Amino acid sequence: MQPKVNIMHLPVYQPGKPIEDVKRELGLDEVIKLASNENPIGYSPKARAAMLDEIDHLHIYPDGASVDLTAVLASKLGVESNQIIFGTGSSDIILMICRAYLTAADETIMADETFSQYKHNCEVENTNIIEVPLKDGKHDLNAMLAAVTERTKVLWICNPNNPTGTIIGREELEAFLAKLPKHVLVVLDEAYGEYVTDPNFPNGITLIDRYPNIVVLRTFSKVYGLAANRIGYGVGEASVIRTINQVREPFNTGRLAQVAAKASLQDDEFLARSQASNTAGLNYLHAQFDRLGLQYFKGHGNFIMVDVRTPSMQIFDLLLRKGIIVRAGWKHYPNAIRVSVGTAEQNEKFIQALEEVLIELAVLQ
Ligand SMILES: Cc1ncc(COP(=O)(O)O)c(C=O)c1O
Repeated sequence: MQPKVNIMHLPVYQPGKPIEDVKRELGLDEVIKLASNENPIGYSPKARAAMLDEIDHLHIYPDGASVDLTAVLASKLGVESNQIIFGTGSSDIILMICRAYLTAADETIMADETFSQYKHNCEVENTNIIEVPLKDGKHDLNAMLAAVTERTKVLWICNPNNPTGTIIGREELEAFLAKLPKHVLVVLDEAYGEYVTDPNFPNGITLIDRYPNIVVLRTFSKVYGLAANRIGYGVGEASVIRTINQVREPFNTGRLAQVAAKASLQDDEFLARSQASNTAGLNYLHAQFDRLGLQYFKGHGNFIMVDVRTPSMQIFDLLLRKGIIVRAGWKHYPNAIRVSVGTAEQNEKFIQALEEVLIELAVLQ
């Protein structure tokens, strides 16, 4: 048996270490996972009630087109229903875009570093990948523009960027879109967009009328706290969404995911509580990094990349022994860890552990 040659080098995705494994391996009672940018306060109680209501219908296939959920979301976003597609998380939309648009003859442009799944799915399609280094942790839009050729099919922008947490402002993005040739599909991944408080942050959906070559990605995994339920969506011009729909699996979102997503959209209180808790956490962590004299990229999502002036895998291991899981091992930021914003208590425990570790290593006095 011979798989596709272009996938033979691909690693199997390594998720953040599961809490239960760490507890067992290190004999710890309490482990705090700040590694996967999840919502530390859970998910909407209205979503829970909606799922319990749906629980007796799991023997019947879900509505493949998510008609009910689409209608609620379309009215909330001010777009038509045929401008929305749902996926098994927004990762599924990334996969579908690659499947629908990219071949071995095409080129695709993305930042280096950014969310790993763009590159992974482009590699599966054997597409020529052009990676443009970040500049000060931000997408270098001028360099990305300069990399466009007539073979460029898809260009990926992660706003805020994972892992650096930086954002591209409205004017900068619009100037870029105005210059970008129209044959390039821009994927604007706003997985963390709901967390951003900077008034300069662009809402990609408002740009679709003027730039029909944009697809905006969002997810219920982050601020809505439904990461395990696997549901996310794409918004774009109707013909683009139709193309992506052509490669969609028939039942790619389940009943529980659909009803939970719909109820979450109708729970403004939970959304506001999640956003407020995150903003307080970002402010606290930024202030603590300042106190400790550590450099960081100001986080605009629900995570921060901070320079710990030590090989990050060493810090990862030392924090793990203290029951804190973070993300480390970034190609261009070997001394940086990415920490997700937790609850106030988790953030304090993380800072305490980090400070102890950095004092033990004599990075801090
Ligand atoms: C930037 C970005 N986009 C998309 C996703 C995918 O999220 P999901 O598939 O859970 O919707 C993630 C997950 O971490 C992410 O960081």
